[in-house]
Amino acid sequence: MGNKIVTARELAPKTMLFEIEVAHIAERGQAGQFVIIRVSEHGERIPLTIAHRDAERGTITLVAQEVGKTTRDLNRLAVGDEILDLAGPLGLPTEIPAGGKTVVCVGGGIGNAVVWPQVQALKESGNKVIAILGARTQELLILEDEITALADRVIVTTDDGSYGRKGMVTHALQDLIDADERIDEVICIGPVVMMKFVCKTTEPYGIPTQVSLNPIMVDGTGMCGACRVTVGGETKFACVEGPEFDGHVVDFDELMKRLSYYQPEEKLALDRACQCEQQAADRAVPEAS
Ligand SMILES: Cc1cc2nc3c(=O)[nH]c(=O)nc-3n(C[C@H](O)[C@H](O)[C@H](O)COP(=O)(O)OP(=O)(O)OC[C@H]3O[C@@H](n4cnc5c(N)ncnc54)[C@H](O)[C@@H]3O)c2cc1C
Ligand code: FES
Repeated sequence: MGNKIVTARELAPKTMLFEIEVAHIAERGQAGQFVIIRVSEHGERIPLTIAHRDAERGTITLVAQEVGKTTRDLNRLAVGDEILDLAGPLGLPTEIPAGGKTVVCVGGGIGNAVVWPQVQALKESGNKVIAILGARTQELLILEDEITALADRVIVTTDDGSYGRKGMVTHALQDLIDADERIDEVICIGPVVMMKFVCKTTEPYGIPTQVSLNPIMVDGTGMCGACRVTVGGETKFACVEGPEFDGHVVDFDELMKRLSYYQPEEKLALDRACQCEQQAADRAVPEAS
């Protein structure tokens, strides 16, 4: 089967990093691209960004935040386990300037997993990178060390002020703009509402802003239409035409609405999985005693 997990590490509560042996993707994947995985035979297919790759070791790194059934199943895997299906690399790579630009990379929450390879690619091409990394609170901040090792400057924000600058990533970005920091481009990845407000921050100054969209995806090949987003009044399929788009013309409100379409079914799937596990645990107790 392959796709063996060789490293499994908790980065924050409900957030795991997995290094997986999958040589062909380790050789070809680029910043901004993703894979679609299936954890078990009757499981759902979900997209996850290639957070890092090591062509020599033949491995890629995925970072998964547990939000529902599939990410919960994934985050219970351990070193030595195998991921049933893993397809990729999918999507278009991030457009990396050829060099000499100052790019601000803004990551929020799990979005830092997407920022990590982008910072690496931007630096390898000779650009200056300022990273703004946001989290609700210090314990949820991920990949700070990895990104600090690459970026020219890192600014951390937490909503509750437990670490770094208190406030949102948009506040730190506005500070840079007010300080007349040269900014040629902003790349932003995080919760949809965060990306919407980062774009509102940069738009009045005409700063080009790329966002990485996270619609629901099924096949990842442009066949099913699940990942439809509206960009500049046109329908785009994020899996093959994205996931990165010009944030100033993305219809974020529609994306938020579409992401919530299946919430009752998603909750049901998670509740059922929890119930089955509880029943299995209850049955196991008398046998063990
Ligand atoms: C291109 C791309 C790259 C991604 N990369 C990563 C990554 O590197 N790490 C990571 O943890 N997640 C990533 N995601 C999001 C991830 O795919 C979803 O969190 C996952 O599909 C949820 O599946 P589930 O069965 O666990 O939860 P579900 O039961 O499907 O959903 C549970 C809750 O999560 C919300 N949700 C579902 N899908 C998404 C989504 N696509 N984005 C945001 N919220 C969602 C639902 O509205 C619901 O509230 C990415 C998404 C895309 C499109
Ligand atoms: S996920 Fe099916 S068309 Fe994009």
